[in-house]
Amino acid sequence: MPTTISVRTADDVERLLALMTLEEKAGQLNQPPVLDTITDEQVVAGQVGSVICAHTAFAGNEAHNRVRTDLMNRIQRVAVEESRLGIPIVYARDVIHGYRTVAPIPLGQAASFSPDHVREAQKVAAKEASADGIRWTFTPMLDIGRDPRWGRVAEGFGEDPYLTSVLGAAAVEGIQGERMTMAACFKHFAGYGTAEGGRDYNTGEITEYTYRNLILRPFHAAVRAGCATAMAAFLEVGGVPATSNDWLLRDVLRDEWGFAGVVVSDWGAVDELMCHGQAADKRHAALLALTAGTDIDMASYSYLAHVPDLVRSGALCPEVLDEAVRRVLLLKLQLGLFENPYADESTRDADQFTKASRATVLELARRCLVLLKNGGALPLKGANVLLFGELAYAQRELFGTWTMDGVPSDVVTVATALRSALSSETKLVETHLIDDAVSFSRFCDVAVVVVGESPNRSGENNSVTDLGLPAGQLDQLRALRRVGVPIVTVVVCGRALVLTEVEELSDAVLLAFHPGVMGGTAIAEALTGKVNPSGRLPITFPRHAGQVPVYYARKNTGRPTNPSVRKQSRYIDSSDTPLHPFGFGLGYAEVGYGDPQMEGWTASVELTNEGLADAEETVQLYLRDELSTRVRPLKELIGFTRVLVPAGGRADAKVEFSPDSLGYYGPDNRFVVEPGWFQLALGRDSEATPFVRFRLDDSGGIVEATPV
Ligand code: GLC
Repeated sequence: MPTTISVRTADDVERLLALMTLEEKAGQLNQPPVLDTITDEQVVAGQVGSVICAHTAFAGNEAHNRVRTDLMNRIQRVAVEESRLGIPIVYARDVIHGYRTVAPIPLGQAASFSPDHVREAQKVAAKEASADGIRWTFTPMLDIGRDPRWGRVAEGFGEDPYLTSVLGAAAVEGIQGERMTMAACFKHFAGYGTAEGGRDYNTGEITEYTYRNLILRPFHAAVRAGCATAMAAFLEVGGVPATSNDWLLRDVLRDEWGFAGVVVSDWGAVDELMCHGQAADKRHAALLALTAGTDIDMASYSYLAHVPDLVRSGALCPEVLDEAVRRVLLLKLQLGLFENPYADESTRDADQFTKASRATVLELARRCLVLLKNGGALPLKGANVLLFGELAYAQRELFGTWTMDGVPSDVVTVATALRSALSSETKLVETHLIDDAVSFSRFCDVAVVVVGESPNRSGENNSVTDLGLPAGQLDQLRALRRVGVPIVTVVVCGRALVLTEVEELSDAVLLAFHPGVMGGTAIAEALTGKVNPSGRLPITFPRHAGQVPVYYARKNTGRPTNPSVRKQSRYIDSSDTPLHPFGFGLGYAEVGYGDPQMEGWTASVELTNEGLADAEETVQLYLRDELSTRVRPLKELIGFTRVLVPAGGRADAKVEFSPDSLGYYGPDNRFVVEPGWFQLALGRDSEATPFVRFRLDDSGGIVEATPV
């Protein structure tokens, strides 16, 4: 029978900690995978502090069965009632962008520029997952994604640190809510998106200037949002793997930011210190990782095997062990696991995939669609519409990567949704054969072609060198183009693809990313005009793969691109401008912008909508610091707002900013707001031009402003 100790406060945690043996402490830092391989003996011995409910290291693209809440409860009962101290286990899973009600991939969510909709979708995910007994999720991923060759750009919020910060904080709020039924986890700390060549797990090279001004900002925002846990990244930067990087995990995360939560390693990353060539063996790896600040060892079992001996031998300071165990126990206290460690099996189905959940995720999916081109073919009109493309009938593929708990049969395909969305007078002509499609298109007014990539080409361990459409799809578009029928191309994908020729062949292009379980419905609503597309690109779309990495927040260089000057930063075989810039997106009616104004710390602009459909416009505010001690980008997003502009009406958009919006990590990598001249641009995407130039004086006041 367990030693009865009631744990209700942090003081009780101290009392519990004082009772624990070295083996029990190491057990709290051990996180094995694969629930059904865990034995009662391990649990009774206190060797299982938490479990990651996944059966493979590549959970992102492997089908998984729903977690067995009955088995989780049975194992939990052994932990609580039969282990010496009765410490409950915390069950974790990658609930990245939805549980049973799968939301668009995070990159698609980012296109909404809507923290409110992101927060609501994550609330749905947390409710569904926690009902099954999952109390810790490894999301949001806040890695800056500027290299679409890297499959995991799908999982982040794109290339910009401000947008990623805002949406990451919203995701944390949605997951943890007021009472923290579920703990969020910001990852991968830090710099994973800079893996060289876009090759997953590859090395990175990040200066402290870039760490602080680009990479770390979203993680800091997640800490300020109260995120309960963090995950260290796989990669090595500057010779130090993140898992054993005490500058990241202690100096920055703990000492500077005051983060008091748990840091978990990535899958097997403690042992991977041996592959990196930094650890001689598992024992050495455990010492390096725990000393640096990685509290929990996911799936290496090295802490369990070696931490007690490391302390007994004097190699590992006992206080280092205790602080890690304390954080794990406090996390369990925060989650209420000491009070109620079990999931209610009788109600777990009640909250799955409800009408309300679907409605919430549909609202988000609608706002993730980005209209990249429209020569007039959209919204669909005409009596005969051809529908072609395997992805028009796809279900699982719409989920995107990292959807362990989606049920493909839940998905309403694009084809099914389009059939019911089109008016009864419109005939939808369908075929799976390109030759038939070419023939039928001769008698159709428009062809809708759904192209794109499978989630199996996206996500973890799926880096690519070719950013074009998968083989054969372009040929199909070319064949239809030869007939001359207007083509509306819908693109389903997990990254920024090169769509240059797709746009040349199409009259209209609607980008959906991997839009989730309600994506087919949202796409059909946009195609038929029920929804006016309002998404904006969270990642730059290159004209050519050779441009990568290409992003809006570039620096001027000493020889800026200037066609009239021979010596300039440019390509001789391609334009250096992207196909579409960050923040770009069209709608069914162009929203008119008046002359932007600046009044104090508020930028504003009047919007008008002469179209027939209401429009949700995302007005973006960009900053340029004309002169700075350390070189800064030509443009930096410092604010945005989504504004509803009624059909035939007008609306005012206001974006607040502050003195801190002007700051950056400058000399000595300290945050600084330097006096001097700044410019603001307020517009529909990152190509907005400056409208005002103002001077900030030494006291941080705006002393003069002149229109540009
Ligand atoms: C994976 C991923 C990480 C995920 C973890 C658990 O390798 O890198 O994002 O949370 O392992 O599945």
